[in-house]
Amino acid sequence: MKILFFGDIFGRSGRDALIKQLPNLKNKYKPDFILANGENASHGKGISHSICKELFSAGVDVITGGNHIFDNSDVFNFIDEEKRLLRPNNYPIDTPGRGYEIFEKNLKKILVINVMGRVFMQPLDDPFESVRKILNEKKIGKDVSAIIIDIHCEATSEKMAIGHEFDGKASLIVGTHTHVPTADGRILTKGTAFISDLGMCGDYDSIIGMDKVKSLERFKKKIPIKGGMNPATGEATLSLVYVEIDDETGLASSIKQVIIGGSLKEIS
Ligand SMILES: [Fe+2]
Repeated sequence: MKILFFGDIFGRSGRDALIKQLPNLKNKYKPDFILANGENASHGKGISHSICKELFSAGVDVITGGNHIFDNSDVFNFIDEEKRLLRPNNYPIDTPGRGYEIFEKNLKKILVINVMGRVFMQPLDDPFESVRKILNEKKIGKDVSAIIIDIHCEATSEKMAIGHEFDGKASLIVGTHTHVPTADGRILTKGTAFISDLGMCGDYDSIIGMDKVKSLERFKKKIPIKGGMNPATGEATLSLVYVEIDDETGLASSIKQVIIGGSLKEIS
């Protein structure tokens, strides 16, 4: 099975680039399943129903979330019904939406889990226990063909800890949230593909996606900025991984980082 997983889509610039480039990427990589983190897709904060539909019709199969998933209140109108949009699984029990789901594509079952870290983040439930409970029930190569985990958090150490904890039990574990791609994509010792952070699909001539002038002013003045913050509007870079998974074992056979467009140096 071939997978594409895009890092955090940031605002219109990120959405437009993804929609424009996806046909080329599909042509090149022939993915069976496409995922993207979309918690910043709506003006940098949250996601709306119309944006979800736009990304699904472009070919994205599943959208994962994180700490900003509920920032656009439109999400409350559809997240309970829309199985293809996930929020972190370790939110309190009655939180709208779901943190994991099994999808069927090309006669294969793919379990996708979204979970959030706690280092420099909101104090949610234990992410290790949250994932463990699901994986106690579902095994790769037996119950499902692939298991994909998005660990949304700030600290690379916590993401690597999740990677090693579930090495051999998941096909692919990606970190999201920092909007800065790491260069440590690899296959862990027991066969799980891992990268600490996918990076962002957005304009990198910015401060993690936001207009650099206003963001810099906020850092320097420490007071709210007049008119609020706005996403940068320049050409976006797409940051993603392409992963091949062995259909028998559900473990990864390769992981390749892909960075295209905008102001980052390309890797393809
Ligand atoms: Fe985030």
